Amino acid sequence: MQDVTDLPFIRVAAHYGAPDYFFTEFFRVHAQSRPEKHILRSIVENKTGRPVFAQLIGEEIPHMVRTVKELLKYPIAGIDLNMGCPAPKIYKKNVGGGLLRDPAKIDELIGALRDAVPGLFTVKMRIGFDSTENYERVLGLINKHGVDLLSVHGRTVKEGYRSDVHYDHIAIAARTVRCPVLANGNVTSAAKAAAVLEETGAAGVMIGRHAIRNPWIFRQCRERLVERVAPNALSSSNNALEAKRSTPIFQPTLADAREYITRLYRETQTPDIPEKAHVAKMKKYLNFVGQSVDAEGKFLHDMRRAMTEAELFAVCDAHLLTEPAKLFATEPYPGIIARPNCETPVESCSLDTITA
Ligand SMILES: Cc1cc2nc3c(=O)[nH]c(=O)nc-3n(C[C@H](O)[C@H](O)[C@H](O)COP(=O)(O)O)c2cc1C
Repeated sequence: MQDVTDLPFIRVAAHYGAPDYFFTEFFRVHAQSRPEKHILRSIVENKTGRPVFAQLIGEEIPHMVRTVKELLKYPIAGIDLNMGCPAPKIYKKNVGGGLLRDPAKIDELIGALRDAVPGLFTVKMRIGFDSTENYERVLGLINKHGVDLLSVHGRTVKEGYRSDVHYDHIAIAARTVRCPVLANGNVTSAAKAAAVLEETGAAGVMIGRHAIRNPWIFRQCRERLVERVAPNALSSSNNALEAKRSTPIFQPTLADAREYITRLYRETQTPDIPEKAHVAKMKKYLNFVGQSVDAEGKFLHDMRRAMTEAELFAVCDAHLLTEPAKLFATEPYPGIIARPNCETPVESCSLDTITA
């Protein structure tokens, strides 16, 4: 996620239980582009023990292939193509989600990338641009070019980030393509992950915003879906998996959330970033965290008014350490959205504009 899955965030996420794989923020590819140094750091300095895929956004084949060759010199798990970003300034250039309007271009681009990537080549896509009319054709291209893994965000580009997720369309992908499919969109908890896997038949889930809110979510998924089931249950249905779960799933408290915020603050701090700017960046993460703190949105209300580090942590103490043993909600509280006035159009794929 742009602005999110940088090296500091990856480190923090790994501390609480890393996902099986990470995907970088997207490398922008055009005639003058060079792989962005800060994104390269999340590859080169990744000590989490989990592989990281390098994601590219672009459409000009010579530059995409050149960038692939540059990135292959780094310790990446594979190359991932972004066909989902819904920001108008991105899709108007026919990149990201804009590609979904043009299956012929996708055919050409995926073919060229497949030829350029000797190892794992993966694709992240939405189910269409403003309709799903090209969806099955694009899935056919995933098969034609032997893509190794497909992540499907179950919304069209025009649906942005807040509509219902069309899990039935993710199920179509899981049935159609020969590679594993990761189901993406509103996987809010381990229980939701189990339900989405059941509904879609996907091989796994991809989690975005709810990992910012709840960095324990990957651990919780693993506990629910993999580790705490009898080994012979793995060949049975998801219902059997749930029935054989033996020990409870980790439940963070408000005190744990307070500790997460401190860790995130320290990890994201750099000498060149002024306090006010750092507090502003923290608020973007806390917009998500606040969805699990209280049902009335009081933490969010107070947090948004903090201007200094001291004010921010005073708000955190007041809301998180008064009842430290209270559970940090597993699901976001209903109606508590990450930002007010979030019907504003998504102008970029960044924490500034994307809500949950
Ligand atoms: C701040 C932010 C940045 C994002 N940047 C990217 C990106 O660089 N590449 C990408 O494939 N998806 C990006 N996404 C989309 C997410 O990967 C994901 O598809 C979407 O948020 C839906 O999943 P979720 O409900 O788990 O968040 C971004 C999402 C957010 C919230």
